[in-house]
Amino acid sequence: MSEKVLIAGCGEVGNALATRLLADGCEVWGVRRRIDALAKGVQPWRIDLTDPESLDAPPAAFDYLFYTASADRRDEEHYRSVYVDGLRDLLGALRDAHCPLRRVFFTSSTAVYGQSDGEWVDEHSVTEPSRFNGRILLEAEAIVREAPETGINVRLSGIYGPGRTRLVRKVRNEEATPTASWTNRIHVEDCAGALRHLMRVADPENLYLGSDDEPVTTADVVNWMRAELGLDAPHPALSENRTERLNKRCRNARLREAGYQFQYPTFREGYRPIVREFLSQSA
Ligand SMILES: NC(=O)c1ccc[n+]([C@@H]2O[C@H](COP(=O)([O-])OP(=O)(O)OC[C@H]3O[C@@H](n4cnc5c(N)ncnc54)[C@H](OP(=O)(O)O)[C@@H]3O)[C@@H](O)[C@H]2O)c1
Repeated sequence: MSEKVLIAGCGEVGNALATRLLADGCEVWGVRRRIDALAKGVQPWRIDLTDPESLDAPPAAFDYLFYTASADRRDEEHYRSVYVDGLRDLLGALRDAHCPLRRVFFTSSTAVYGQSDGEWVDEHSVTEPSRFNGRILLEAEAIVREAPETGINVRLSGIYGPGRTRLVRKVRNEEATPTASWTNRIHVEDCAGALRHLMRVADPENLYLGSDDEPVTTADVVNWMRAELGLDAPHPALSENRTERLNKRCRNARLREAGYQFQYPTFREGYRPIVREFLSQSA
């Protein structure tokens, strides 16, 4: 019998994951409010994760849950209702319905790290976020870590992918500031690829950092893009931009050791087609 997978908050990462899992022969359900935006073949479960009243009986006996919902407003109350209450309520409903959950995944973020002096961080690093978003994500991680099922938190860095041409446009318009701050990225296809990989890996750890192979400074990215766009001489890097979330370096060794092979190991492979897409649209 095919495995039944629920992706709660089935947006960009969720749809990319769903497409892979459908190809593997899984049955996939997606939770979101705009169910017409679910990928082809994903069965809809239309509920509002922030409204427990909307939680009706689960449409199947799920074997796997991926909680990939994303808060669409940056305020503390809303964050808690999406990441903490929504996750807890959904898990409660799945357990009440006796879903035979084998693994529960939560897509957390590298915003849980407060480090901002260019330090390397990994799964062993201290997590003392300076802002509410990181603190709330840590609360959500605790729900998954302490779950009776096998719970796996995956801390993703900055997600990018096709269609996200904002940075390219900024570089082209000379609006991007090249700084010496370290940044970390992961392509949306690798988010999905890594989650699928971790669904299958034997004896998984309960925490992984999901970021590509190469932390880079904003100046590295901006100047590489300038060259790809055919713009003139690189800009010298300005001193660090001390924005929280920035200026740390994410180490992905644990995910690598688990056997995951990145489709886009650095921003160069990932952004090259995005720059081409941008150039063809603006030609
Ligand atoms: N973006 C980043 O750089 C980044 C970095 C680190 C971690 N993450 C995490 O990675 C995960 C995947 O991100 P993504 O880029 O795939 O996000 P996304 O495209 O925004 O997808 C999240 C989906 O959640 C659904 N959703 C939001 N609120 C909901 C609610 N109340 N009830 C039901 N569904 C709801 C939305 O669909 P509807 O609007 O149709 O309901 C949306 O499609 C998220 O957990 C995010 O927090 C993101």
